[in-house]
Order: sequence, then structure tokens, then C-alpha cells
Amino acid sequence: MHHPRIVTTIAELREALAASGSVGLVPTMGALHDGHLAHVARARELVDTVVVSIFVNPLQFGPNEDYLRYPRDLEADAAKLADADLIFAPEPAEMYPNGAIETRITAGRVGDTFEGRSRPGHFDGVLTVVAKLLNIVGPRVVTFGEKDAQQAFLVERMIRDLDIPTRVELIPIVREDDDLAMSSRNRYLSDRERVAARALSRALEAAESSADRGIDAVIAASQSVVMGEPLVELDYFAIVDPATFQPVDDGYRGPARAIIAARVGSTRLIDNTRLRLG
Ligand code: PAF
Repeated sequence: MHHPRIVTTIAELREALAASGSVGLVPTMGALHDGHLAHVARARELVDTVVVSIFVNPLQFGPNEDYLRYPRDLEADAAKLADADLIFAPEPAEMYPNGAIETRITAGRVGDTFEGRSRPGHFDGVLTVVAKLLNIVGPRVVTFGEKDAQQAFLVERMIRDLDIPTRVELIPIVREDDDLAMSSRNRYLSDRERVAARALSRALEAAESSADRGIDAVIAASQSVVMGEPLVELDYFAIVDPATFQPVDDGYRGPARAIIAARVGSTRLIDNTRLRLG
């Protein structure tokens, strides 16, 4: 079986990429599951050299979040990456040699809504590390998952706004057999919580099936699913315009995205789906 080479320094990575044809980057924080592997498989179709970065980025975690307990197992991750050419797995000191960095990308107003409202500074941390990774790797293509729809929106906008010569390839959500969106955080769920967590995808299905009756019907249908599951504490449910990531107005018709975030026990989960409001 092919094993990708693991490099831990920026200098080594740049050297390894010196004569590598077109490059694709799959940025991850490790704890890889089939959702990530769909990114690698798609990148494999698009470029000559596939780089997977594995870096739990301290900048995007709040003080009370799971930075320290976030699962880290480079060996297990590497064993899943037979389809990749290079793994870039730097230590925090390689990415942030002076400790906390002063220079940051700001995600703007959309960065303060939804995920950003619950996780202040999160998207500035994400965009800053993504900009660094794009500068380090210089990929033609970078993959981002539709699962983190707000993140994908903000990265695409950053790339446009800053004229970064990389194209974003969006990867559809990969789901478990019971429709729970795959996430590295699913492993925190107890058996009972795991069953309750299905309410997120069921709420989105309810949204889809009432989409032709307008936004009020969509919100009512989804909320009644979540309310029926006492272990699920809703953070937000919203219908956003995919072009702006702002909530749509009452009479809106056309393409939209339903987004949901909830806490199940102590685990925060997100999910979303595309809709067409009629
Ligand atoms: O989606 C993630 O796993 C992270 O936010 C990313 C894009 C790797 C940046 O740290």
C-alpha cells in the first residue's frame, strides 16, 4: 500500500512541492473520517499532487472549547490517506513561531453571525490559518466541505477579496447510515445522544419537504422536529441566501440554504442543506 510522506516543516514541504505539477490542498484538523476521504478522492481527480494538512489550529478555538481534548492521532490518520501524496502536519510552533500572531484576517460581519456568534473570533482564526496554508502550499485547488457552509462561504469570499490564485472545490456532505452528518465531534456523543442527534438532519428534511410553502412553514416544520427531542438544545436554525449568507426576507423565493446548530449533551453539532423556497 502506498504511504504518503509526512512532513512537519514549511521548508520541507516547499522543497517536496518544488517539481510536483498541479497541487491540491485538503485542509483538515485530523480525526479523519469518510467525509475527509471524499475530499481526498475529489482532489485526486483534479490535480497531480494531493497535500493533506493536519493541524489543530489553536487560533480558531475559544477559551472554553475543545482545543485540548480535540482528537489527535497522526498515525491513524496517515493510515487512511493512501490516496494522498503528502501530509503536512506541523506543530503549533512551526505555524506560530512567536506564539500568538498579531496579524489576522478578519471575516467581517458574516463572521460574527451564526457559528461566529456562538464562537467569537472563530472565523478570524480559520481564515488566518487557511491564508497561511494557501501561502505555504500554493495549491491550484483547495477543498472545503459543504458541511461547514459558513466557513466555505467565508473562505471563498476571502480568496476573491484577496485575489488568492486558488479555486475552491466544494465537497458535498457525507452522512452516516442514519443521515447524521459525519463530523470528528460525533465521537463525543453517548449512545442516547447519538440517537437524539438525528434530529438535526430530520429537521433539515422537514425543511426541504415544506420549502414550497414558504419560509414560515419551513421554520415551523423544522422547529417542531427539534422541540420533540429533549436532549437537543437548539442554538440556531435559519434560512440564508447562499450569495450573502444573510437570513432571507419573508417573501423570498429561490435558492437558499437551511442551517442548523445544536448542542447535544456537551457536544455542539452543525448541519445544513440546500433548498429552493417556493
Ligand atoms: O474545517 C476545518 O477542519 C478547519 O476549520 C480548517 C479548514 C482545517 C482550518 O483549520
